[in-house]
Amino acid sequence: MAVLQDKSGASPGSQGARMIFNPPVELVEKEMLLPDLCRLKLHAPLIAKRALPGNFVQIKVSDSLDPVFRRPMSIHNCEDETFEMVFRVIGRGTQLLAEALPGRKFDCLGPLGNTFEIPETDETAVMIAGGVGLPPLYFLSRFLIERHRIEPSRVLFLLGIRDKTELIVGADAEKLGVEMKYSTDDGTHGFHGFVTALFEDIYARRLRNSKMRVYSCGPTPMMQALSRIALSFKLPCQLSLEGAMPCGVGTCLGCAVKLRAKDEYLRVCQEGPVFNAEEIEL
Ligand SMILES: Cc1cc2nc3c(=O)[nH]c(=O)nc-3n(C[C@H](O)[C@H](O)[C@H](O)COP(=O)(O)OP(=O)(O)OC[C@H]3O[C@@H](n4cnc5c(N)ncnc54)[C@H](O)[C@@H]3O)c2cc1C
Ligand code: FES
Repeated sequence: MAVLQDKSGASPGSQGARMIFNPPVELVEKEMLLPDLCRLKLHAPLIAKRALPGNFVQIKVSDSLDPVFRRPMSIHNCEDETFEMVFRVIGRGTQLLAEALPGRKFDCLGPLGNTFEIPETDETAVMIAGGVGLPPLYFLSRFLIERHRIEPSRVLFLLGIRDKTELIVGADAEKLGVEMKYSTDDGTHGFHGFVTALFEDIYARRLRNSKMRVYSCGPTPMMQALSRIALSFKLPCQLSLEGAMPCGVGTCLGCAVKLRAKDEYLRVCQEGPVFNAEEIEL
C-alpha cells in the first residue's frame, strides 16, 4: 500500500529523506471561527514544504517554562510558505495560542509523525471526523484531490459536531466539493446522533457493497466505537490519534498506545499518530 509523498518526493517510509525542522514560525493570520475555535496561519516555509496529511507540529506556546510542554497540533492546510492549525481552546496552552497576535513568533518543531495510506483506485475514501478531529482529514482530502487527482465524488466526508452553531468546522471541507454529511448531538442539523451511528446508517443503506477505506480522527470514545465497527465490517481503517503527548519526540513514553493482543506499545508521536484500527487497542 502506497503512502503519500511531500513536494520533495519524500515519504515517512523513505529512509533518511524525512527531516524535522525547528524554525521560528511567525503568526501571519488569526481568525476566531467560534468563541472557542481558532484558526492560525503561520509562516514556516520548511514545514509547509514537507508537511503531509497526518503530520503535526509541537508548538511552544509561551516564552517561559509555563507551561513546560509544547502542544501538539495537526497540520490543517499548507500553502507555499505557510501552514494552518485549527484548534479548540480547552486549557491554558490553547488559550495562549488563541491570544497571540499576528507578528508573534513561536518555537515550533515539525513536521512530525507519519501519514495515511492512499486509497486503491476502486475505493471510496470515507473521512469520519469528530469536531476538531477534522484538520488531518481535511488536509488528507485536499491532498488526495489536488495531488493524487482523486475525484471529489470518491470522497465522502462525515463530520460529527455538537449542534448547528458548529457548522463552521466543516466549511473548508465543503469547499472541496466532496459529499459532506453532518451529525449533531442534539439533532439541530443533519443526522441526530453520533457520527459513528451516521456512518453505520450510510453503510447499511448504500455502502455495504462498495469498496472503501475509512480514515478517522476525533475523541477517544468515537475512535473506540469506530474501531469496533471497522473490525466487525472488516473495513480498512486508519485512525489518527490525539491523546496527551508530553515530549512529542519519542523520549518520555507518555503517548504510548497498546498493540492489540500483544503486551507491546507504540509511541503515538513516533510510530503514529496514524495507526491501522486492527493494529492498536484503544
Ligand atoms: C498529534 C495531535 C494532533 C492534535 N491536533 C489537534 C488539532 O488539530 N486541533 C485541536 O483542537 N486539538 C488537537 N490536538 C489536541 C491538542 O493538542 C490539545 O487540545 C492541547 O494540547 C490542549 O492543551 P491546553 O494547554 O489548552 O489544555 P490542557 O491544560 O493541557 O488540558 C485541558 C483539559 O483538556 C484535556 N486534554 C488535554 N489534551 C487533550 C487531548 N489531546 N484530547 C482531549 N483532551 C485533552 C486535559 O485532560 C484537561 O482536562 C492534537 C493532539 C495531538 C496529540
Ligand atoms: S510524547 Fe514523549 S514519547 Fe511520545
